[in-house]
Amino acid sequence: ELCHNKTQQFRQRIVRAFEKAMVESVNESQANHYNVDYKPVFGDSFEEQYYPSTCLVMEAGVRVLRRKDAPFNKLPFGRLFPRQKLFRNVKDIKTCAIVSSAGSLAGSKLGRFIDTHDIVMRFNHAPTQGHEVDVGSKTTIRVVNSQVVTKPEFDFTRAPIFRNVTIAAWDPGKYNGTLEDWLTSADYDLFTNYELYRRRYPKSRAFLIDPHSVWRLWQSLQMFAGSRPISRNPPSSGFIGLALLLPHCPQVDFVEYVPSTRLNGRCHYYSKEMNSACTFGSWHPLAAEKLMALDMNMAEDDDMSVFQFGILRIRRPDKL
Ligand code: C5P
Repeated sequence: ELCHNKTQQFRQRIVRAFEKAMVESVNESQANHYNVDYKPVFGDSFEEQYYPSTCLVMEAGVRVLRRKDAPFNKLPFGRLFPRQKLFRNVKDIKTCAIVSSAGSLAGSKLGRFIDTHDIVMRFNHAPTQGHEVDVGSKTTIRVVNSQVVTKPEFDFTRAPIFRNVTIAAWDPGKYNGTLEDWLTSADYDLFTNYELYRRRYPKSRAFLIDPHSVWRLWQSLQMFAGSRPISRNPPSSGFIGLALLLPHCPQVDFVEYVPSTRLNGRCHYYSKEMNSACTFGSWHPLAAEKLMALDMNMAEDDDMSVFQFGILRIRRPDKL
């Protein structure tokens, strides 16, 4: 009992910290770099606003670009997109794990649990080598941002970490920008290295995430937040990954996204850097994302599961 109360107290502290971080994040990122001009569509009453969070995330329709999508159906660039689906044998997918890169994964010993899932999603250059006990060794898909695709230190087109896994790369573009605009105005020009990678490895499953779908996810997040404004920057890779995966997976275990009592102030499990903004957010609307993720949690004993073990369980709504 005593121990359980301690977990509940931790939960309250985390939720309060996210709520505070939500306000601070909006105050800090006053600039509207992406020209977001969102107008609230709902009234203020609970009935008008309430819609299950998993449904909001599903309806954002986060997806990868396909050859048939305009304008890529008319551009040579579109022929670089793989013909394959994002995942093989979708019917057989039962459980998926999303491994956040959070510092609190260090010492978690969740590796074996993570590897039992049919699909394991990781982010950016987060390594498994040397961290197997805590984060596992299986990787099905990596969601990578455009900085990782472009900056020389990540060596996207050659580094082994980006080989033999599905890649979903993203860059936000502008909020109301067309896909044509995006090709010339991405924050980081991911197209050059994407093309290089696809030419070098024609059999690879490397996709680009539809930037419009990233902003629809932002809208879903703002709908969840209701009258509380969220920062006008795109969601984090972690939240984009969840929205990309959920339509393909009946059950998603999101690991150390909402921090457990292992919370240690470190940014990543694979580096010594201390930075709590990685966990609570400043640029991305990360605090709102995590409150929304917590709202989606279906683990039976949710305090134990999320705050003791660091595992948030999300079930796909079967009918929308
Ligand atoms: O830092 P990076 O973007 O590579 O991390 C991958 C994802 O893991 C982030 O987009 C975020 O969703 C999640 N993350 C987190 N807490 C941290 C670090 C990362 O939730 N401390």
